[in-house]
Amino acid sequence: MAGLEQSLFQLKFTAKQLNRQAAKAAKEETQEKAKTKKALTQGNNDIAQLYAQNAIRKSNERVNLLRLASRIDAVASRVQTAVTMRSVTGNMSQVIRGMDKALQTMNLERISLVMDKFENQFEDLDASTNYYESATNNVNALTTPQEEVDELMNQIADEAGIEMKQGLNETKVDIATPPAANTISEEKEDKTTATRSMGPRGAATSLNAVRTKVSLPDLDWDFGALEPHISGQINEIHYTKHHNTYVNGYNTAIEQHAEAKSKGEVKKTIELQKAINFNGGGYTNHCLFWKNLAPSKQGGGEPPASDSDLAKAIEAQYGSLDNLISVTNGKLAGIQGSGWAFLVKNKDAGGVLDVVTTANQDTVTGPLVPLVAIDAWEHAYYLQYQNVKADYFKAIWNVINWKEAEKRFLVN
Ligand SMILES: [Fe+2]
Repeated sequence: MAGLEQSLFQLKFTAKQLNRQAAKAAKEETQEKAKTKKALTQGNNDIAQLYAQNAIRKSNERVNLLRLASRIDAVASRVQTAVTMRSVTGNMSQVIRGMDKALQTMNLERISLVMDKFENQFEDLDASTNYYESATNNVNALTTPQEEVDELMNQIADEAGIEMKQGLNETKVDIATPPAANTISEEKEDKTTATRSMGPRGAATSLNAVRTKVSLPDLDWDFGALEPHISGQINEIHYTKHHNTYVNGYNTAIEQHAEAKSKGEVKKTIELQKAINFNGGGYTNHCLFWKNLAPSKQGGGEPPASDSDLAKAIEAQYGSLDNLISVTNGKLAGIQGSGWAFLVKNKDAGGVLDVVTTANQDTVTGPLVPLVAIDAWEHAYYLQYQNVKADYFKAIWNVINWKEAEKRFLVN
């Protein structure tokens, strides 16, 4: 009977430990709510959401730890009865020993398993099996329902007398404002559809953006419309497969990043940032690319209007459009591996033009406003031009949409 008495002690001890953990979770919940309030006071809804999620998680943890402690107490009282009645079978003793081990580890899953066995033998246990099941599910939950987060934020804001500057639902749309690079190409879209044109700038600064997935942009022409310069097959595969991969990759990475961040997983957060940069860059670059291409009947290849600011800037800096094209092709040829060339306007240097290249899917940011983006990845030309990529670089100018470049030059 010594084993059973030891189990009884262990059960009671575990219940106390769980109660202590619950008290700790309660304290942390209070801290997270205070942080939520502070963030709301500062008008930072994104950060407030993070803290509100943490508070809810801590609250669930607290409730479930209390439930589990109560359940263990109930089991302890049954063990007490067994000790008193001295009617425990050998089989029961074995289960009790297993429970001892599990309790010592404080591993909730293991405790749950042995307690299931235990309860099978004490069919009339007061504690319901659902009790623990719901506890385990909630303690391990990785995400918090958005409605719950919004509700808590509103509640805290109400209590603190903070006026939410925007409704939470509105914020979701506003945060998804397209990056500078996409502003022009997406300018006709309304607020709702603008959510799909979100780029890295929104992603880097907003938790709301996590829930705002990007998607493939509409094309202004058919896949075959750029022939003979770029084949329909290339465009179709490029758009439906390659660009789509960046769309999906970005959406996945941004979600995983938010999750890792909310769990305080610093290393994983840093790792995921690389995937966000790569896929977000791929998404953004290709959006620019499709928009700065056009078939000849839609103005593709037609030089900028001679009286346009862009034409004047080209003339002043490069002497002629042909010269600019030649400079760009030289830089494109110099890209080792995969990358992009961009004709940019440098806002920090008085708006001068420049041709820059990037590796992989790196995009241009900061003061560099992309006017024309040219994809130098093999997937952009190989099916048609094979290893002679110089021919692709020459041909693409026949379908460059200079009207789009003019707009980007002016607006940005
Ligand atoms: Fe591409």
